[in-house]
Amino acid sequence: MTEPTPQDLFTFGLWTVGWQGRDPFGDAARPPLDPVESVHRLAELGAYGVSFHDDDLLAVEPDRDRAVAAFRKALAETGLVVPMATTNLFTHPVFRDGAFTSNDRDVRRHALRKVMRNLDLAASLGAHTYVCWGGREGAESDAAKDVRAALDRYKEALDLLCGYVLDQGYGLRFAIEPKPNEPRGDILLPTIGHALAFIDELEHPEMVGLNPEVGHEQMAGLNMVHGVAQALWHGKLFHLDLNGQHGPRYDQDLVFGHGDVKSAFFLVDLLEHGGYTGPRHFDYKPARTEDPEDVWVSAAANMRTYLILRDKVRAFRGDPEVMEALRDSRVEQLSVPTLAPGETLADLAADLAPNRLGGPFDPDRAAGRGYHFSRLDQLAIEHLLGVRG
Ligand code: GCO
Ligand code: MN
Ligand code: MN
Repeated sequence: MTEPTPQDLFTFGLWTVGWQGRDPFGDAARPPLDPVESVHRLAELGAYGVSFHDDDLLAVEPDRDRAVAAFRKALAETGLVVPMATTNLFTHPVFRDGAFTSNDRDVRRHALRKVMRNLDLAASLGAHTYVCWGGREGAESDAAKDVRAALDRYKEALDLLCGYVLDQGYGLRFAIEPKPNEPRGDILLPTIGHALAFIDELEHPEMVGLNPEVGHEQMAGLNMVHGVAQALWHGKLFHLDLNGQHGPRYDQDLVFGHGDVKSAFFLVDLLEHGGYTGPRHFDYKPARTEDPEDVWVSAAANMRTYLILRDKVRAFRGDPEVMEALRDSRVEQLSVPTLAPGETLADLAADLAPNRLGGPFDPDRAAGRGYHFSRLDQLAIEHLLGVRG
């Protein structure tokens, strides 16, 4: 395994290493972190870039112009880039009922202004992706929110913002980040599937894709690997948030791989072999138990775990026994169209083409053949546990 380098495209949100450990039950456990220090420390660890919410830049310097200037200087000194930016539409109590979908029209207008202002900064820093995580877009009571009207307003906001980006000539695309709940009881666009269907209704669907997060899909009891695969299939994997989670419970934001490590193995396999070329972005929280130096140990752990898993999936794909097991499990047959070129449904109905077992298809005979998936799965586990290759 090699050490992380910028070629690995690892990026971190400023809010990840900068998280002070404030939770619903306790105060901050760490002092505020200067974004300038984060940029330098992440660069030393081998990261490629950083992402930020507008408000993250103000962690220690309340003057926006000075904060932005210091951040730009740190980027120039380290060579770190900003592939993604986003807006904080959830911390200030003005957003207590959401931003784009707040029942209060004045709040919705304020939210749009806040996003536009940060889009200007994101574009000037060369970002390509603008994430929209609708943390407060939701409700606790079904009486409180007209969901169809809320979706109208969500669409209105994204249509307006796409128009703004086009008018300004910015090279930005939006990425919706689904999450089922927390901080709201129910959040709108709770899963990858909901978000994909919503994007189809927009004025500029080509400008809007997804930013799926490991923990969010797993909180919903869903399979992140399947979700990401479907996003890729739709051409909608614009970005992603890597972290760890132990099943359906509060959003843990663990280090990547420190939750469901087997799912992390297959996610790395998919990212490395599925045509995704964007940043490997970590959205984790250094545990509240950790002190300021531990933060950097946990940041490095995300990248190290990714690189270890990358080595493991390469060894898995290159293992002749795995290749044979994949053939035995007929995995590659799924890529063969079900009808042959030129074959008609009438031909199919007559079942004239020779099938693999010879002669007309005999369901009882075919039913007798198992798929040998347990052998394949065990090979993956053995590669993951480091006892092969
Ligand atoms: C969360 C979210 C956020 C977003 C971030 C970027 O559950 O808190 O994952 O960390 O990713 O706000 O939009
Ligand atoms: Mn999260
Ligand atoms: Mn996230």
